[in-house]
Amino acid sequence: PEQKAVVKDKIKRLLKEQDAVLVAHYYVERDLQELAEETGGYVSDSLDMAKFGNEHPAKTLIVAGVRFMGETAKILNPEKRVLMPTLEAECSLDLECPADQFIPFCDENPDRTVVVYSNTSAEVKARADYVVTSSIAVDLVTWLHQQGKKILWAPDKHLGNYIQRLTGADMLRWQAACVVHDEFKSRALGDLIEKYPDAGILVHPESPEEIIKLADAVGSTSQLIKAAQTLPQQRFIVATDNGIFYKMQQAAPGKVFIAAPTMGEGATCTSCAHCPWMAMNGLHNLLKVLESGGNEIFVEESIRVQALRSTQRMLDFAK
Ligand code: 13P
Ligand code: SF4
Repeated sequence: PEQKAVVKDKIKRLLKEQDAVLVAHYYVERDLQELAEETGGYVSDSLDMAKFGNEHPAKTLIVAGVRFMGETAKILNPEKRVLMPTLEAECSLDLECPADQFIPFCDENPDRTVVVYSNTSAEVKARADYVVTSSIAVDLVTWLHQQGKKILWAPDKHLGNYIQRLTGADMLRWQAACVVHDEFKSRALGDLIEKYPDAGILVHPESPEEIIKLADAVGSTSQLIKAAQTLPQQRFIVATDNGIFYKMQQAAPGKVFIAAPTMGEGATCTSCAHCPWMAMNGLHNLLKVLESGGNEIFVEESIRVQALRSTQRMLDFAK
């Protein structure tokens, strides 16, 4: 394989030549995060990735993450070319909420406002009234609840339960889970907290309730990085994908970060604290895509127009 530096230089040249900008999620490998930053691109949570892609003037968006992130970029920017290093990068939440089951479920509950997590297909977004990410989900449901709305929530059960506990809203909930966050274990986390009683606990709300209950801060990936900077603790136990450690360490240089425990030792765990689909993004497939122009994201126009309504509401609410 070619030297990393050579590959990076080629990518940088091609990004410039093709008026392309790289938008990466915190969970992708460090090389891609670095490259995004070095080339005027962006690394962030799923909401800010969508915002950035929408506001940036480049003709091509390269989205390093999972498919729903590329689709969201295309829904918002039909005039732009949207490419991804891989088209195989799924998300268990998206997979566990297929449109052909979700749409009839909504049809059976016409009195409910449909709020879906951004980790869904364009078809599911097209059936929704609102799209949210974890950074605005609680605020949006609070706002709807205050207007007396009954909610149909999909797909993440842990995030749905968390929002319900905080807001008291009437929420009919889909029952999917993230393969990464669902594996954090509360007993082992309790042991770690005993070992490090001074540590702050940072938790992504896709985690089970027993983990969220132990948290000092619950939030999206960007919100967790912010908490690491602003909370007084010098040591943190972090329950989210370990891809986040690169930016977290950069944001709070003197502090110590420890990964929250997942399955017991020796257990077969295919996605222990790292998303197998995020891990499919790399420098080599990014270079290939820039060279070949392949892996373009398309969303059928009638679906896109429908999905734009609910997705635009997410951006408007986040303003
Ligand atoms: P964020 O919106 O917090 O980046 O979450 C996206 C995601 O897929 C978390 O697993
Ligand atoms: Fe989906 Fe979980 Fe991977 Fe995030 S970490 S993309 S929620 S499977």
